[in-house]
Amino acid sequence: MISPIEWKDGCVRLLDQQALPHSVTFLDCDDYRVVAQAIKDLRVRGAPAIGITAAMGVALGAQTIKEKTFDAFSNGVLEICDHLAATRPTAVNLFWALNQMKAVLNAHRDSSVVDLKAYLVAEACRILEEDVAMNRAIGRHGATLLAKGQTVMTHCNAGSLATGGYGTALGVVRAAWDEGKKISVIAGETRPVLQGARLTVWELQQDKIPVTLITDNMAGALMRKGCIQVCVVGADRVATNGDVVNKIGTYSLAVLARAHGVPFYVAAPRSTIDPAMPDGDGIPIEERDIGEVANVLGMTRITPEHTEIYNPAFDMTPAELITGIITERGIFRPNDLARGMLEC
Ligand code: MRU
Repeated sequence: MISPIEWKDGCVRLLDQQALPHSVTFLDCDDYRVVAQAIKDLRVRGAPAIGITAAMGVALGAQTIKEKTFDAFSNGVLEICDHLAATRPTAVNLFWALNQMKAVLNAHRDSSVVDLKAYLVAEACRILEEDVAMNRAIGRHGATLLAKGQTVMTHCNAGSLATGGYGTALGVVRAAWDEGKKISVIAGETRPVLQGARLTVWELQQDKIPVTLITDNMAGALMRKGCIQVCVVGADRVATNGDVVNKIGTYSLAVLARAHGVPFYVAAPRSTIDPAMPDGDGIPIEERDIGEVANVLGMTRITPEHTEIYNPAFDMTPAELITGIITERGIFRPNDLARGMLEC
């Protein structure tokens, strides 16, 4: 199984997703600022992966703090958390993971600084392991929705690369494939950063799961021809009413799915649900450098100089367009999500 993040020999080892699919290159980070920059630069991306990486960044940064009292050490850790929190605004998993790290710190305020440093490493590794376990559970639940021979459309990359491993939307695909359902996948290329073309296709090819790449604007035509039976995508943040923010283009796909009677599912763990967000309109949408749109992969300019460009990285799909949300606890209708996931 591809694992994009690892705590290795006191460093955070990241699989450099900007180098894929051309080369499998690892980035060994020995400074939390390098980890933060890797998140900003999309060397590691995908909501759960961003959260896990940030947690590892906190653990890494904490090792270098020289203070000996709890308060001084804690202040140092909080500064590191603030630095990592400023990397990307949309995926709530980032803030969720930083809060987990702060909670561990506060739960051990009577411990020595040496022990606190070890607790933070252990917590970051636990967050990673828990994420993989949640993805496997999401996969088991989601696989029940797929029938033998179906074609599944996905958008962006919500796979192993976007998580601690196994994936959310691609976890569903993987679990169905492992059950022998002989499904196939259509991956939208996901302009402008091409996570679908570069990452989803690469990842599925590693597992020998059949995948066909299309440009984003081909999805409607394929649905009209009956070539797509179900859509499964990931999420960066889910509001308590079931509105979902995910990669730009998800909303268009959901509208198309509704128009063609294709069920539209979102796969997401608890760490992607924001209990403080009653609906999707309040979720901050990251706007990225316009160079991502003006140039293909930073190389060939495809529009005249001085073109006005707008580059929101995410969009909001209202709950009414979503057939169900696949979580580690089961599959919920969007309006049952809060009851199913946030109440014990
Ligand atoms: O900008 P990215 O590549 O971080 O965006 C990723 C997505 O939108 C994914 O679909 C989402 O994070 C879910 S990953 C399980």
